[in-house]
Amino acid sequence: MKFGYFDDQNREYVIQRPDTPLPWINYLGNENYFGIISNTAGGYSFYQDARLRRLTRFRYNNAPLDVGGRYLYIRDNQAQMNGDSLYWSPSWQPVCRTLDQYACHHGLGYTRINSQKCQIECQAVYFIPLGQDFEFWNFQITNHRKEPADLSLFSAVEFCLWDAWDDQTNFQRNLSIGEVEVEKGVIYHKTEYRERRDHYAFLACSHSVVGYETQREAFLGPYRGWDSPQVLESGQTSQSLSPGWQPVGVQKVNLALKPGETARVIFMLGYQKVDRDQKFTDPDLQVINKKPVQKKIKDYLNGEFLDESIQDLKRSWDSLLDIFQVNTPDVHVNRLVNIWNPYQVMATFNFSRSASYFESGIGRGMGFRDSNQDLLGFVHLIPERARERILDLAATQLEDGRAYHQYQPLTKRGNDAVGSDFNDDPLWLVLSVAAYLKETADWTILEELVPYDNQPGTEEPLYSHLLQSLEFTLDHLGPQGLPLIGRADWNDCLNLNCFSSDPGQSFQTTTNQGGRTAESVFIAGLFILAAREMIPICEIFADPDSALRYIKQADKMEETVWDQGWDGNWFIRAFDDFGAPVGSKVCQEGQIFIEPQGICVMAGLGLRNGKARKALDAVTNRLATDHGLVLLQPAYSRYYLNLGEISSYPPGYKENGSIFCHTNPWIMIAEALLGNGDAALDYYLRINPSAREEISEIHRCEPYVYAQMIAGRDAPTHGEAKNSWLTGTAAWNFVAVTQWILGIRPDYQGLIIAPVLPSGWDGFQVKRTFRGTIYNITITRVGPGSDLQVIVNGSEIPGTLIPQPDPGVKDLEVLVKVGSPG
Ligand code: GLC
Ligand code: GLC
Repeated sequence: MKFGYFDDQNREYVIQRPDTPLPWINYLGNENYFGIISNTAGGYSFYQDARLRRLTRFRYNNAPLDVGGRYLYIRDNQAQMNGDSLYWSPSWQPVCRTLDQYACHHGLGYTRINSQKCQIECQAVYFIPLGQDFEFWNFQITNHRKEPADLSLFSAVEFCLWDAWDDQTNFQRNLSIGEVEVEKGVIYHKTEYRERRDHYAFLACSHSVVGYETQREAFLGPYRGWDSPQVLESGQTSQSLSPGWQPVGVQKVNLALKPGETARVIFMLGYQKVDRDQKFTDPDLQVINKKPVQKKIKDYLNGEFLDESIQDLKRSWDSLLDIFQVNTPDVHVNRLVNIWNPYQVMATFNFSRSASYFESGIGRGMGFRDSNQDLLGFVHLIPERARERILDLAATQLEDGRAYHQYQPLTKRGNDAVGSDFNDDPLWLVLSVAAYLKETADWTILEELVPYDNQPGTEEPLYSHLLQSLEFTLDHLGPQGLPLIGRADWNDCLNLNCFSSDPGQSFQTTTNQGGRTAESVFIAGLFILAAREMIPICEIFADPDSALRYIKQADKMEETVWDQGWDGNWFIRAFDDFGAPVGSKVCQEGQIFIEPQGICVMAGLGLRNGKARKALDAVTNRLATDHGLVLLQPAYSRYYLNLGEISSYPPGYKENGSIFCHTNPWIMIAEALLGNGDAALDYYLRINPSAREEISEIHRCEPYVYAQMIAGRDAPTHGEAKNSWLTGTAAWNFVAVTQWILGIRPDYQGLIIAPVLPSGWDGFQVKRTFRGTIYNITITRVGPGSDLQVIVNGSEIPGTLIPQPDPGVKDLEVLVKVGSPG
């Protein structure tokens, strides 16, 4: 069952009914100011940091899920419904009165909700103009009646008192600190501005505001919710202003519309920073300096600017997406690669795992491992931002190579509450830097001086940080020569040193025991992968000694994996604190894990001795389901003190045997490395959200973006997705499908074109801009088999690497013939 459809032409997903299984959301914003919006206008906004600079309030895990938003009420001042006054929300929520028409178009950076009720049509567009710290809500209201309509509009947001964590917890303080000012219909939210803040929020309207409320209770009335505000009932505002309680922004606008007439009403919600020495126009009266906002209102709060800026936004997305466009025989591949996957990658790049509907933005900042992986799918879009991110991440590394697990985007400082000691973390930095170098050939980044732990005076070239990352693994080997796992590796929930028996203790942060025994085969595989990425970097960077060292160390680690980490048919996952294997046939539960099968094969293990094939066959036989590849089998049926959080989840959920989508592309890449395009594409399509659109009632999350997990076969809700949007799945799937199945792969010296063409495909076309040159690539099957013949501008080249052309070459025509003719 579907709840909407893809409009590929306009790059939108169109939702046709408001009651989707979960809020289906979209992201607004670009670099500093962001928002999340659901298909019924629920959501919130923040400046840079979802925890520390939250503009509007949102209560997580509420009923319904997306309460709190950018609300508009339309009140029909003449009509009544069953004796009551008649009002509704054109976005359906929060009033939830049935609409005669409804469609929500989630586009790239904007959301449009069109509705009609009682012959009053409302077209609403929400977006954040490029480079601005404010958002627009643009409403076009049309009277389709034969008689005039006497309407009032009410905007409504609830302000967050900035630190979203404090806002949701510290009520003994919070109930007294809220402050606003209202001037010329503009509502200014200035909580804590009297003391140390130099920023406030504002809500402005293009129309004359005839009444307002800034106190939630004055608007809603006691014991009422957002669905039935007292002010909507009476039509009268009280101009509430007292400090404290829950500050809101509610503005009333009157509209008298003739038959057929359309009015356009624009709201502007924004964040304003003010120079510290100019905070007040009247310090004695504590009147805030509104000049910068007044200027913004004058310059920008008009239809002309709004129309231009939404065009700019669209153009900007078009040119970003234009960097990589494909035309394959599969609509789901095209749709995801051309539109939605890079779009999701942008969200994961921007927020890591901090801000969505399910990630509250108050617990997590930018994850070290997460952000490095997100970058793999992002770097071709805006390499300059990737560069900055790499340097920010590296600056949270500690001198011995360890890394803070997360940092706060506002301060860019390592998050002490979460700390360090996730032993895989540093290695991901090598992969992201390698991806950056391959995309850009900007070798200067390696010379950038980057501090450790943000401490001035500790700066070393980024190159040294990379060496430190690898050395960290080598400095932390366990009894069998495999890397020690620390708190956890990629699988945050495999906590082999935790032994937590106290309810409520955090598996992620609670003090671990020393941990000199538990080892990770996954980190071993990741080390080999990263070390082998590092070798050419060392060579090109004229450091042959290090190159040699990592050749040797990678080979040595590979030997150790074969000696200790191979179970006969697949790779073992880890060794616990007693030295017993995890993810081995000798285990009762959790006999096979997906992660080492993926990462070890990606690192090149077993490609020639048949063992990679064996491991991947084990994946097919034991982990594959119609809904994707589960993380492990059999799922843990009980809690194991020596395994930790993984066994805290009911079977089939999260790390305990769900289809943890992040890991699936690793297997796709592994299959592609073995030349098996069919299996790779098959796995790809099992979790591709567009390919799952038809089963939206089972999948339940948005059909246009990946979710972190899909319930596994041990779960009663097998096939149900959760935690959409912010997941490493986005970047990895983009890499798997574009670089390994389609085979368009940046490398240090040029662009590799080495598709593993699925047998059902005759070929496909790609347009890829790479280091300033446009590659127009046609892949065509000329016969059976997988031999590749690469022809550039009419001449065949040896191999599959197209060397970087001379500067100034604008475009290249590339023809790749697959198979042997005749
Ligand atoms: C979450 C975390 C990520 C981790 C994964 C597996 O997605 O953000 O860091 O690797 O779970 O536990
Ligand atoms: C939980 C989740 C895991 C996530 C971690 C982050 O353990 O299961 O996916 O990585 O929280 O804190």
